Amino acid sequence: MKNILITGGAGFIGSHLVRWFLKNHDYTIINLDKLTYAGNLANLTDVQNHKNYRFEKADICDFSAIKSILQKHQITDVIHLAAESHVDRSISNPLQFVNTNVIGTVNLLNACKEFWAGNFEGKCFYHVSTDEVYGSLGDEGLFMETTAYDPRSPYSASKASSDHFVNAYHHTYGLPIKMSNCSNNYGSFQFPEKLIPLMINNIKHNKPLPVYGKGLNIRDWLWVVDHCSAIDTIFHKGKMGNTYNVGGLNEWKNIDLVNLLCDIMDRKLGRENGESRKLITYVKDRAGHDMRYAIDATKLSAELGWNPSITFEEGLEQTVDWYLANEVWLENVTSGDYMNYYENQYQKR
Ligand code: NAD
Ligand code: TYD
Repeated sequence: MKNILITGGAGFIGSHLVRWFLKNHDYTIINLDKLTYAGNLANLTDVQNHKNYRFEKADICDFSAIKSILQKHQITDVIHLAAESHVDRSISNPLQFVNTNVIGTVNLLNACKEFWAGNFEGKCFYHVSTDEVYGSLGDEGLFMETTAYDPRSPYSASKASSDHFVNAYHHTYGLPIKMSNCSNNYGSFQFPEKLIPLMINNIKHNKPLPVYGKGLNIRDWLWVVDHCSAIDTIFHKGKMGNTYNVGGLNEWKNIDLVNLLCDIMDRKLGRENGESRKLITYVKDRAGHDMRYAIDATKLSAELGWNPSITFEEGLEQTVDWYLANEVWLENVTSGDYMNYYENQYQKR
């Protein structure tokens, strides 16, 4: 019997992962989340009464709270997703990212090390990280697990630092760890400060679509549920102490992706073809904007047999449908802190 602590389970990927594990396994899942602006229990209403689900509101930086949750639920495994995750916010407030992503992760590692007290048999600390730790690619090449770290934003620097600590705890204390570095995720329940839900929301409301710089930066997009299936595969079959890159070989220039979203939305909203594209507005570029991310996930597919389950076209259609059908969710998260952030972020230009 496993009692798995998922940190950040009220966020975008975390809520999908909680749902995935409850659906596919008979483990007890303890969701630990501080419920920052990005954490939303409304992401989990369909599973909140599941017999194997528990929720603990706590901060990963609070050592005694974490220790007592590990003890209370006799935690056997941790899948760690709690983090500050938005690059633009990291540029405005880097220290918040150091606190949560670096100190919070080390705190969690310390609490697990103490609680498991050297009895590491059957235990696992799984750290969920990002491809952004590898830096920025030119026109050619892909990120491999062996690519040297070269983080360039405060967000990616904080994630890179946390990855180093996780590996250091494996080498120094023998803590059983696994790690994955994934490309950009998209899907339902993503906070609309990130590119795809922000554009869907703005198209819907006929608001300008802020494309940074010339829109030529490239991201490699993966459906969030496929990320969860990859985490499941690595959690069960991955080698201890190993890192796996996760991605869908699906590179898109930002402007091409925004155009595609406009066209899908025109069709769904019954607008004339080309109408939403008129909302595209080029705005001041992000400081230090990484040019291109692209993942080589050969290790994961060759060694563990994982592959994405759906195409980008299918995933994007489903995603647009979900945001259009879930107006109440969208309106709830676009009030409050998000509105303040949005006004500050897009007023500067
Ligand atoms: P998110 O911002 O949607 O969710 C983060 C969650 O962590 C929220 O529920 C928030 O309340 C919680 N949290 C923040 N600080 C906390 C703290 N101090 N204590 C406890 N909980 C706290 O993020 P996401 O997009 O779901 O990303 C989850 C993880 O996956 C992150 O570690 C991120 O670096 C990584 N990742 C994300 C992507 C992506 O495209 N979104 C890609 C690769 C990796
Ligand atoms: P984002 O979703 O913030 O993810 P990340 O920066 O972690 O890759 O942004 C994806 C891409 O879209 C990135 O190149 C920045 C760009 N972008 C815009 O052009 N406009 C926007 O309003 C946002 C939020 C992002």
